[in-house]
Amino acid sequence: MKPIPSQKLSGLPPYLFVRLHALKTQAAAAGLPIIDLGQGSPDMPSPVHVVSALKNAADQPWTHRYPQTQGLPELRQAIAGWYQRRFNVVLDPETEVLPLVGSKEGIAHLFMALLEPGQGVLVPSPCYPVHYNGAILAGAKVHLMALSEENGFLPDLKKIPAVCGRRSKILLLNYPNNPTGAVLKDLRLLEDALAFSRRYGCLIAYDNAYSELVFDGYKAPSILQLPQARSCAVEFHSLSKSYSMAGWRIGFVVGNTEAISHLGKFKGFLDYGIPAFVQLAAVAALNGPQDYIATACETYRKRRDALIKALAAAGWEIPVPSATIYLWGRLPPAARKAGSLAFAERLILEHGVVVSPGVGFGPHGEGYIRISLVAPQAQLEEAARRIGLAVAELKSC
Ligand SMILES: Cc1ncc(COP(=O)(O)O)c(C=O)c1O
Repeated sequence: MKPIPSQKLSGLPPYLFVRLHALKTQAAAAGLPIIDLGQGSPDMPSPVHVVSALKNAADQPWTHRYPQTQGLPELRQAIAGWYQRRFNVVLDPETEVLPLVGSKEGIAHLFMALLEPGQGVLVPSPCYPVHYNGAILAGAKVHLMALSEENGFLPDLKKIPAVCGRRSKILLLNYPNNPTGAVLKDLRLLEDALAFSRRYGCLIAYDNAYSELVFDGYKAPSILQLPQARSCAVEFHSLSKSYSMAGWRIGFVVGNTEAISHLGKFKGFLDYGIPAFVQLAAVAALNGPQDYIATACETYRKRRDALIKALAAAGWEIPVPSATIYLWGRLPPAARKAGSLAFAERLILEHGVVVSPGVGFGPHGEGYIRISLVAPQAQLEEAARRIGLAVAELKSC
């Protein structure tokens, strides 16, 4: 007997970061010193007081038992409290907050909880892979909203054909944006999204994973700051990026009560939620001092500026993002013909620099490379030097 994957699964290529990891392992086995700027996995240690809270909690035997899907009441309250302090939005911790085993899990399961096979989802392209893959695994039909440099990487919701609008049950938006680093300069897109939702009756899933990783005075909004948003929107957050807790697997979703209740019911069949000691550590992160975030932002800003300068010196100009932990650059001219995957493979296998090919984020990401700012400045500068060598080799080919 040979198990056969479902059509939905076999229709998807292996997950981008799994593929990059395999190439990286190959390059390391060949003896190349690796600089990994592929996945957006923060390299700074999590806050000391959060690690202490985890250790203390793990010493309490009750935290060794099964947790509950809906999360500890003190975590739901901490999330609501953080939200009120950060966005001035009051949430009911009982009905408008749900902790998640990371926001990636929550986004994929929201699709599965709400969608019938064949129903539509509007997803940006390029996008964080689970926005697309999660919808496909739920059996949905994806309508891609093209993002381009010319429109500031914002979708034009007015251009979506009525037939797609009527068919779509979920509209997914993500700002500050992965992979492009684009931000909302005003609330117009969010207002358009609410109008779109009113017209077609779809839920807005707003992914705000990078709300705290911002530079140069930018402040990211929450969609729930708009009146009436909670009647039609949920917003996803992650502790992975703000508090460098990617390995802990904890995030949350807030907003529309019905959507949150359906997702909670769905997850109840699949998981027991988050280990209690991780939940208590998250309470410490959300309720405790927030200076860690300011320090992390300053570190990423310095890295951003240093890498952009080093790449410019190597002949590659990249725009300056106001948020996220990524640079998103058009492929250097010499690499355009072969495409982003071939360039990324060359960088990994011949120069030991792991970056993400734009095409891994959707067809409209072709022609770009994403570089994560997840290494110290000296390594970023060394990566820029090696990238310069790769571009020079391509030019001379
Ligand atoms: C836009 C976006 N949403 C969600 C996630 C997933 O975060 P988490 O670690 O909370 O699952 C990521 C991770 O890179 C992301 O870039």
